[in-house]
Amino acid sequence: MANPSILILAGDGIGPEVMAEVKKIIGWFGARRGLTFDVSEDLVGGSAYDAHGVPLTDETMARAQAVDAVLLGAVGGPKYDKLDFSVKPERGLLRLRKEMDLFSNLRPAQCFDALADFSSLKRDVVAGLDIMIVRELTSGVYFGEPRGIFDDNEGGRVGINTQRYTTEEIRRVARSAFELARRRGNKVCSMEKANVMESGILWREEVQWVHDNEYPDVELSHMYADAGAMQLVRWPKQFDVIVTDNLFGDLLSDCAAMLTGSLGMLPSASLGAPMANGRPKALYEPVHGSAPDIAGQGKANPIACILSFAMALRYSFDLGDEATRVEQAVEKVLADGLRTADLMGPEGGKPVSTSAMGDAILAALDASL
Ligand code: IPM
Ligand code: MG
Repeated sequence: MANPSILILAGDGIGPEVMAEVKKIIGWFGARRGLTFDVSEDLVGGSAYDAHGVPLTDETMARAQAVDAVLLGAVGGPKYDKLDFSVKPERGLLRLRKEMDLFSNLRPAQCFDALADFSSLKRDVVAGLDIMIVRELTSGVYFGEPRGIFDDNEGGRVGINTQRYTTEEIRRVARSAFELARRRGNKVCSMEKANVMESGILWREEVQWVHDNEYPDVELSHMYADAGAMQLVRWPKQFDVIVTDNLFGDLLSDCAAMLTGSLGMLPSASLGAPMANGRPKALYEPVHGSAPDIAGQGKANPIACILSFAMALRYSFDLGDEATRVEQAVEKVLADGLRTADLMGPEGGKPVSTSAMGDAILAALDASL
């Protein structure tokens, strides 16, 4: 059988630095676990724009469709702020999500014990936290038509975006949330704004329909997204799986991320329908951005990107035990006090560079054998 294939799109800013550490981990699996991946690399975002004038070429798009999993670093930077909207780095990422139809975005927020004091919330609120936000990723206000900036014919302008969801778009992401819940705490909380938005009413009704007809064994609750944001910082451990739309999911997942102390810790998986080989269409990326302010200085935290690769092991390659091995290696180096700059709290620790953090995780992987 052919080796599983991975396309690396390191992107901009700290993307290439954190991805360099992931490549070491991928190499380790080949050398030490007999798991060889066919790795190829290409450009996305500003780096693709610099080379080709577009944030994602058709050729790269086709390669992404053909591999088993895409690993993405980060896109964007101040250099590209003034570009026309249609060629902004972010459009490359949005095109990948849309054309690969990656409708289910898994954003775990887990608090590592060694970092519990690092959260802006009190230790007992976050210690042991393990929640999963499932964000719809291919529809809603990010893609709805009509959209644009138009003349209002009275000398002013009007900006329009459209929140639009269909029955099937809601049902398929709801299903992925219920499936995940069954393998975790068996609880789903769905968030929308059914009090002000018709699309929110539909969302609530369809999630309830999927529950009643297909997953009656899973506990389901509904919450308005604003109340959900409040509950997330008040007592996040009340949640297991949260399912929500594209825009609310964008906001709520940043909020949940910060509970854990650092954006530099959080991975994500974006999954679509199964391909011919049974594996889901999949893209893995850290939740953090390109952090242009620290790019190129060896300060970036590679853990979110490394944990994204761990999610690839689990969700694309059915290697849950190997994913756990990576997660435990990360836990070990944190417990040992190793800290990249973003993790340097008042309690101190051993300051390490991006690559030293990667090397320490490799050493912990060696020790796990
Ligand atoms: C995210 C990011 C993206 C989004 C941007 C970079 C387009 O914020 O993945 O959360 O808004 O979805
Ligand atoms: Mg975001």
